[in-house]
Amino acid sequence: MHKADDTAVITLSLPDEAATLGLGAKLSALLKPGWVVYLRGDLGAGKTTLVRGLLRAFGYEGRVKSPTYTLLESYELSRFILQHYDLYRMMDPREWLDAGFRDDCNAGTLCLVEWPEKAQGLLPRPDLEIRLEVAGEGRTVRIEGLSAQGRKEVQRWQG
Ligand SMILES: Nc1ncnc2c1ncn2[C@@H]1O[C@H](COP(=O)(O)OP(=O)(O)O)[C@@H](O)[C@H]1O
Ligand SMILES: [Mg+2]
Repeated sequence: MHKADDTAVITLSLPDEAATLGLGAKLSALLKPGWVVYLRGDLGAGKTTLVRGLLRAFGYEGRVKSPTYTLLESYELSRFILQHYDLYRMMDPREWLDAGFRDDCNAGTLCLVEWPEKAQGLLPRPDLEIRLEVAGEGRTVRIEGLSAQGRKEVQRWQG
């Protein structure tokens, strides 16, 4: 049963890049393999920066490239594989299927998807949706738990 006020949303202000990286570190404590996270926001909003913060917190020290042209960058972490998608350049949602992404994003992988609207209707449902927006020199972020487990984690964070 959901009450009207039973929201699982957090909004934060991120004054500088370090704050976005720090949010990645915070999120690394709650994301698990099998989770799907949608990253929304305009070009330059900080989506890839957030992924970089997450990867650093998961112990990955190499370069974090934006998968703008490849659409997918995979990272083999010690405990699981993190899939970072950037679907900005996808012209047709069916490319998601043709590229085999549906198999790459599965119960054993943590999937982070920039521009999920480009594959609308074909992506797995998100556990979390993270929306970044430019605000002056910094950013604001809105994090919403959408699956049962996503809602639970965000509500725990809300305190
Ligand atoms: N909280 C923040 N405040 C100011 N600049 C930020 C913040 N977070 C990220 N940036 C900067 O925004 C720029 C674009 O970030 P990027 O992660 O590539 O955006 P996106 O993936 O959404 O297109 C980078 O130069 C990054 O340093
Ligand atoms: Mg990006």
